[in-house]
Amino acid sequence: PAHKRCKTHTQQMELPPRPTLFDFHGVSMTKYFTDNWVNIQSFKARPDDIVLVSYPKAGNTWVSYILDLLYFSQTSPDRQNSVPLHERVPFLEISIPGFPSGVDELYSINNFPRIIKTHLPVQFLPQSFWEQNSKIIYVARNAKDSAVSYFHFDRMNKAQPEPGDWSSYLQRFMDGKLVFGSWHDHVGGWWEKRRTTSNILYLFYEDLIEDTERELSRLCSFLRLSPCTDLKKEVTEKSQFNNMKHNKMANGSADEVFDFKISPFLRKGKVGDWKNHFTVKQDEEFNEDYERKMKNTDLHFRTVL
Ligand code: A3P
Repeated sequence: PAHKRCKTHTQQMELPPRPTLFDFHGVSMTKYFTDNWVNIQSFKARPDDIVLVSYPKAGNTWVSYILDLLYFSQTSPDRQNSVPLHERVPFLEISIPGFPSGVDELYSINNFPRIIKTHLPVQFLPQSFWEQNSKIIYVARNAKDSAVSYFHFDRMNKAQPEPGDWSSYLQRFMDGKLVFGSWHDHVGGWWEKRRTTSNILYLFYEDLIEDTERELSRLCSFLRLSPCTDLKKEVTEKSQFNNMKHNKMANGSADEVFDFKISPFLRKGKVGDWKNHFTVKQDEEFNEDYERKMKNTDLHFRTVL
C-alpha cells in the first residue's frame, strides 16, 4: 500500500546521509572522526589510562570486553548487565551529531582505569598519552580477514561511507582509501613504535583465537594484574564469540548506527573467512601488492596464506 511505502520512505529520509571520505593529513577519514579534532588532540590522558588501539575490525571489541571484565566484573557486576560496552569503553575520536562525543564520554568517566578505544594511526595519537606513559595495547589482524570484516561492517554501519561492491572495496583497501587509511601503514606504524616504547603490547587476533588463555596471561602480565583462577575462567568464558554474540550489552545491538538486518556486528569471529570472498585473481593481486608494501618490515602474520 502507498502509505506504507511512504512511511518507510520517510523513515529512510530521516537517516543522515552516509559521510564521504576525504584526505586528512595523508589519511582517509570522515567528519565523524575529525570534527572534534582540537579536543581529541588536546585530550588529557592519565598514567592509569589503558588505550586499546587497532585498525578497524581487528578484534577491538573482543579485547575491550576482556579488559572490562578483568577490571570491573568483580567490583561493578551491574555494569555488565546494564551498560553497553561502547559506553564502558568510549571511542576517543568519535563525534556523531546527536550522540555524546568520545572525548566527552571519557571525561565523564568516574571509575578507573579508563579503557579507551581508538583507531588512530600512530602519528595521530594525542601527545598526552605519551607524556603520561599510559598503557597501550595494539591489536592486529591479518590483512585479508580485516578487509572482509571491514566490508561487511561498512555495509551495516550507517555512519560509514557506502562500501560499494566487494571487488571495488578490496581495491580501496589496497589503496588505503578506507576510513582510518591504509591497513599496511597502520599495523606497520604501531609495530615500529613499539620498538622504542616499553608501554606498548602488540597482540594478534589470530593468537587470541588460537589460545585465549595464553593471550590473557600476556595481557595480565603487561598490565601487572594477577586475577584469581575464577576471574580468569569467567573472562575466558564470557568473552567467547558465541557468548558475546548473545550478550546484548556486548554484541553491538545497542548501537543505533548499526543495521543488523544487513549484517551482524559479531559476524563470524573466525580466521580465514577471506577464502570465502577472494577470487583466485583477487588473491594473486592482493599478495603481490602486500609483498611490495610489507617487504621492509619484520611484522609477520602467520595465517595470511
Ligand atoms: P568478523 O567480521 O570476521 O566476524 P572490531 O571489534 O575491531 O570491530 O573487530 C570485529 C571483528 O572481531 C569481527 O570479525 C567480530 O566478529 C570479531 N570478534 C568480536 N568478538 C569476538 C570474539 N569474542 N571472538 C572472536 N572474534 C570476535
